[in-house]
Amino acid sequence: MRFHVLTLFPEMVMDGLDTSIIGRAIKNEKIEIEAVNIRDYSKDKHKKVDDYPYGGGAGMVMQAEPVYLAYKAVEEKILERGGSKPRVLYMTPQGKVFHQRMAEEFAKEEDIIFLCGHYEGIDERVLEMIVTDNVSIGDYVLTGGELPAMVMIDSIARLVDGVLNNDDSAKYESFANNLLEYPQYTRPEEFMGMKVPAVLLSGDHKKVEQWREEESIKRTKERRPDLME
Ligand code: ADE
Repeated sequence: MRFHVLTLFPEMVMDGLDTSIIGRAIKNEKIEIEAVNIRDYSKDKHKKVDDYPYGGGAGMVMQAEPVYLAYKAVEEKILERGGSKPRVLYMTPQGKVFHQRMAEEFAKEEDIIFLCGHYEGIDERVLEMIVTDNVSIGDYVLTGGELPAMVMIDSIARLVDGVLNNDDSAKYESFANNLLEYPQYTRPEEFMGMKVPAVLLSGDHKKVEQWREEESIKRTKERRPDLME
Protein backbone atom coordinates (compact mmCIF):
# COMPACT_ATOMS: atom_id res chain seq x y z
CA MET A 1 0.00 0.00 0.00
CA ARG A 2 1.18 3.49 -0.83
CA PHE A 3 0.54 6.63 1.24
CA HIS A 4 1.07 9.99 -0.48
CA VAL A 5 1.06 13.07 1.75
CA LEU A 6 0.63 16.54 0.23
CA THR A 7 2.11 18.92 2.79
CA LEU A 8 4.17 22.06 3.39
CA PHE A 9 6.21 20.12 6.00
CA PRO A 10 7.39 16.89 4.35
CA GLU A 11 10.22 16.32 6.84
CA MET A 12 7.77 16.41 9.75
CA VAL A 13 5.77 13.60 8.17
CA MET A 14 8.75 11.45 7.19
CA ASP A 15 10.61 11.96 10.50
CA GLY A 16 7.50 11.01 12.42
CA LEU A 17 6.73 7.85 10.47
CA ASP A 18 10.14 6.47 9.58
CA THR A 19 10.71 4.79 12.96
CA SER A 20 9.60 1.73 14.91
CA ILE A 21 7.03 -0.58 13.31
CA ILE A 22 6.06 1.75 10.46
CA GLY A 23 9.73 2.43 9.70
CA ARG A 24 10.38 -1.31 9.55
CA ALA A 25 7.37 -1.79 7.24
CA ILE A 26 8.79 0.82 4.86
CA LYS A 27 12.19 -0.89 4.89
CA ASN A 28 10.55 -4.29 4.26
CA GLU A 29 8.54 -2.78 1.39
CA LYS A 30 5.17 -3.65 2.94
CA ILE A 31 4.13 -0.01 2.56
CA GLU A 32 5.46 3.13 0.87
CA ILE A 33 5.15 6.65 2.22
CA GLU A 34 6.02 9.70 0.16
CA ALA A 35 5.68 13.27 1.38
CA VAL A 36 5.20 15.73 -1.47
CA ASN A 37 6.11 19.34 -0.78
CA ILE A 38 3.27 21.54 -2.05
CA ARG A 39 5.70 24.46 -2.16
CA ASP A 40 7.61 22.71 -4.98
CA TYR A 41 4.55 23.30 -7.15
CA SER A 42 4.32 27.06 -6.55
CA LYS A 43 4.90 29.08 -9.70
CA ASP A 44 5.57 32.21 -7.66
CA LYS A 45 9.17 33.41 -7.83
CA HIS A 46 9.35 33.40 -4.01
CA LYS A 47 7.63 30.00 -3.83
CA LYS A 48 4.67 31.60 -2.08
CA VAL A 49 1.77 29.22 -1.46
CA ASP A 50 -0.70 31.35 0.51
CA ASP A 51 -2.50 34.69 0.27
CA TYR A 52 -5.01 36.89 2.10
CA PRO A 53 -8.61 35.67 2.29
CA TYR A 54 -11.14 37.31 -0.04
CA GLY A 55 -13.69 39.13 2.09
CA GLY A 56 -11.10 39.88 4.76
CA GLY A 57 -10.44 38.21 8.08
CA ALA A 58 -7.48 36.87 10.00
CA GLY A 59 -4.81 34.55 8.67
CA MET A 60 -3.79 33.31 5.28
CA VAL A 61 -5.37 30.82 2.92
CA MET A 62 -3.42 28.23 0.92
CA GLN A 63 -3.79 28.88 -2.79
CA ALA A 64 -5.51 26.45 -5.12
CA GLU A 65 -2.88 26.12 -7.85
CA PRO A 66 0.09 24.62 -5.98
CA VAL A 67 -2.22 22.15 -4.22
CA TYR A 68 -3.82 21.19 -7.54
CA LEU A 69 -0.48 20.71 -9.31
CA ALA A 70 0.95 18.66 -6.44
CA TYR A 71 -2.16 16.47 -6.53
CA LYS A 72 -1.99 16.09 -10.33
CA ALA A 73 1.67 15.01 -10.18
CA VAL A 74 0.85 12.26 -7.70
CA GLU A 75 -2.34 11.19 -9.51
CA GLU A 76 -0.48 10.95 -12.82
CA LYS A 77 2.17 8.71 -11.28
CA ILE A 78 -0.48 6.42 -9.81
CA LEU A 79 -2.41 6.16 -13.09
CA GLU A 80 0.78 5.52 -15.08
CA ARG A 81 1.53 2.59 -12.79
CA GLY A 82 -1.87 1.16 -13.69
CA GLY A 83 -3.54 2.18 -10.42
CA SER A 84 -7.05 3.58 -10.22
CA LYS A 85 -8.03 7.13 -9.31
CA PRO A 86 -7.02 7.47 -5.66
CA ARG A 87 -9.11 8.63 -2.73
CA VAL A 88 -8.02 12.04 -1.49
CA LEU A 89 -8.48 12.56 2.24
CA TYR A 90 -8.51 16.17 3.40
CA MET A 91 -7.48 16.50 7.05
CA THR A 92 -9.96 18.91 8.61
CA PRO A 93 -11.80 19.33 11.91
CA GLN A 94 -14.90 19.71 9.70
CA GLY A 95 -14.65 16.10 8.50
CA LYS A 96 -16.14 12.79 9.57
CA VAL A 97 -14.45 11.69 12.81
CA PHE A 98 -11.88 8.94 12.15
CA HIS A 99 -12.70 5.53 13.56
CA GLN A 100 -11.25 2.00 13.54
CA ARG A 101 -13.84 0.89 10.97
CA MET A 102 -12.69 3.70 8.64
CA ALA A 103 -9.08 2.53 9.11
CA GLU A 104 -10.17 -0.96 8.03
CA GLU A 105 -11.93 0.42 4.97
CA PHE A 106 -8.98 2.62 3.94
CA ALA A 107 -6.55 -0.29 4.42
CA LYS A 108 -8.15 -1.97 1.36
CA GLU A 109 -6.94 0.83 -0.95
CA GLU A 110 -3.78 0.51 -3.04
CA ASP A 111 -3.00 4.26 -2.93
CA ILE A 112 -4.31 7.01 -0.67
CA ILE A 113 -3.53 10.73 -0.89
CA PHE A 114 -3.60 12.78 2.33
CA LEU A 115 -4.00 16.53 1.91
CA CYS A 116 -2.69 18.60 4.82
CA GLY A 117 -3.73 22.21 5.19
CA HIS A 118 -2.21 25.00 7.24
CA TYR A 119 -3.04 28.59 8.11
CA GLU A 120 -6.77 29.27 7.72
CA GLY A 121 -7.28 26.37 5.33
CA ILE A 122 -7.17 25.81 1.58
CA ASP A 123 -9.01 27.63 -1.21
CA GLU A 124 -12.38 25.88 -1.42
CA ARG A 125 -12.27 25.52 -5.20
CA VAL A 126 -9.42 23.02 -5.25
CA LEU A 127 -11.00 21.10 -2.37
CA GLU A 128 -14.19 20.79 -4.44
CA MET A 129 -12.17 19.47 -7.36
CA ILE A 130 -9.98 16.85 -5.73
CA VAL A 131 -11.16 15.82 -2.24
CA THR A 132 -13.14 12.58 -1.92
CA ASP A 133 -13.29 12.39 1.92
CA ASN A 134 -13.12 15.06 4.63
CA VAL A 135 -11.67 13.45 7.75
CA SER A 136 -11.13 14.74 11.31
CA ILE A 137 -9.21 12.92 14.04
CA GLY A 138 -11.34 14.41 16.80
CA ASP A 139 -13.26 17.44 17.97
CA TYR A 140 -10.35 19.74 18.66
CA VAL A 141 -8.34 22.06 16.43
CA LEU A 142 -4.70 21.47 15.50
CA THR A 143 -2.32 23.82 13.70
CA GLY A 144 -2.15 21.66 10.59
CA GLY A 145 -3.12 18.39 8.96
CA GLU A 146 0.26 16.66 9.33
CA LEU A 147 -0.33 15.11 12.75
CA PRO A 148 -3.80 13.87 11.72
CA ALA A 149 -2.33 12.34 8.54
CA MET A 150 0.40 10.64 10.59
CA VAL A 151 -2.14 9.30 13.08
CA MET A 152 -4.26 7.89 10.28
CA ILE A 153 -1.32 6.41 8.37
CA ASP A 154 -0.11 4.66 11.53
CA SER A 155 -3.51 3.11 12.22
CA ILE A 156 -4.14 2.11 8.58
CA ALA A 157 -0.63 0.77 7.93
CA ARG A 158 -0.70 -1.60 10.92
CA LEU A 159 -3.69 -3.33 9.29
CA VAL A 160 -1.75 -4.03 6.07
CA ASP A 161 -0.59 -7.64 5.73
CA GLY A 162 2.95 -8.20 6.95
CA VAL A 163 3.28 -4.89 8.81
CA LEU A 164 2.79 -6.43 12.25
CA ASN A 165 4.98 -9.42 13.06
CA ASN A 166 2.18 -11.58 14.33
CA ASP A 167 -0.60 -11.45 11.74
CA ASP A 168 -3.17 -12.14 14.40
CA SER A 169 -2.28 -9.38 16.79
CA ALA A 170 -4.18 -6.71 14.83
CA LYS A 171 -7.40 -8.64 15.27
CA TYR A 172 -7.38 -9.03 19.01
CA GLU A 173 -6.70 -5.53 20.19
CA SER A 174 -8.90 -2.73 21.40
CA PHE A 175 -12.00 -2.12 19.26
CA ALA A 176 -12.00 -5.63 17.82
CA ASN A 177 -15.67 -6.64 18.35
CA ASN A 178 -16.22 -3.13 19.74
CA LEU A 179 -14.47 -4.14 22.98
CA LEU A 180 -11.42 -2.67 24.66
CA GLU A 181 -8.44 -4.95 25.16
CA TYR A 182 -8.01 -6.93 28.40
CA PRO A 183 -5.17 -5.99 30.81
CA GLN A 184 -1.69 -7.35 30.11
CA TYR A 185 1.07 -8.40 32.54
CA THR A 186 4.70 -9.47 32.23
CA ARG A 187 7.49 -10.42 34.64
CA PRO A 188 7.98 -10.19 37.55
CA GLU A 189 5.09 -12.11 39.07
CA GLU A 190 5.00 -9.62 41.94
CA PHE A 191 5.63 -5.87 41.64
CA MET A 192 5.53 -3.71 44.80
CA GLY A 193 3.27 -6.24 46.46
CA MET A 194 0.91 -6.50 43.49
CA LYS A 195 0.49 -9.98 42.04
CA VAL A 196 -0.31 -11.04 38.49
CA PRO A 197 -3.84 -12.56 38.35
CA ALA A 198 -3.42 -16.25 39.20
CA VAL A 199 -5.41 -17.47 36.19
CA LEU A 200 -2.69 -16.16 33.85
CA LEU A 201 -0.13 -18.44 35.55
CA SER A 202 -2.42 -21.49 35.54
CA GLY A 203 -1.47 -22.74 32.07
CA ASP A 204 -5.18 -23.38 31.40
CA HIS A 205 -5.67 -21.70 28.01
CA LYS A 206 -9.44 -22.00 28.08
CA LYS A 207 -9.65 -20.31 31.46
CA VAL A 208 -7.25 -17.59 30.32
CA GLU A 209 -9.42 -16.92 27.23
CA GLN A 210 -12.53 -16.74 29.35
CA TRP A 211 -10.90 -14.40 31.90
CA ARG A 212 -9.68 -12.11 29.13
CA GLU A 213 -13.10 -11.90 27.57
CA GLU A 214 -14.68 -11.04 30.91
CA GLU A 215 -12.04 -8.40 31.60
CA SER A 216 -12.61 -6.89 28.12
CA ILE A 217 -16.31 -6.59 28.77
CA LYS A 218 -15.80 -5.21 32.30
CA ARG A 219 -13.29 -2.65 31.08
CA THR A 220 -15.46 -1.54 28.18
CA LYS A 221 -18.49 -1.11 30.48
CA GLU A 222 -16.39 0.98 32.88
CA ARG A 223 -14.43 3.11 30.44
CA ARG A 224 -16.39 3.22 27.20
CA PRO A 225 -20.02 2.29 27.86
CA ASP A 226 -20.92 4.01 24.59
CA LEU A 227 -19.21 1.16 22.68
CA MET A 228 -21.56 -1.42 24.20
CA GLU A 229 -24.74 0.29 22.99
N1 ADE B 1 -6.65 19.98 11.15
C1 ADE B 1 -6.77 20.74 12.25
N2 ADE B 1 -7.41 20.11 13.23
C2 ADE B 1 -7.71 18.87 12.75
C3 ADE B 1 -8.38 17.73 13.27
N3 ADE B 1 -8.87 17.70 14.51
N4 ADE B 1 -8.50 16.65 12.49
C4 ADE B 1 -8.03 16.67 11.21
N5 ADE B 1 -7.40 17.71 10.67
C5 ADE B 1 -7.24 18.80 11.42
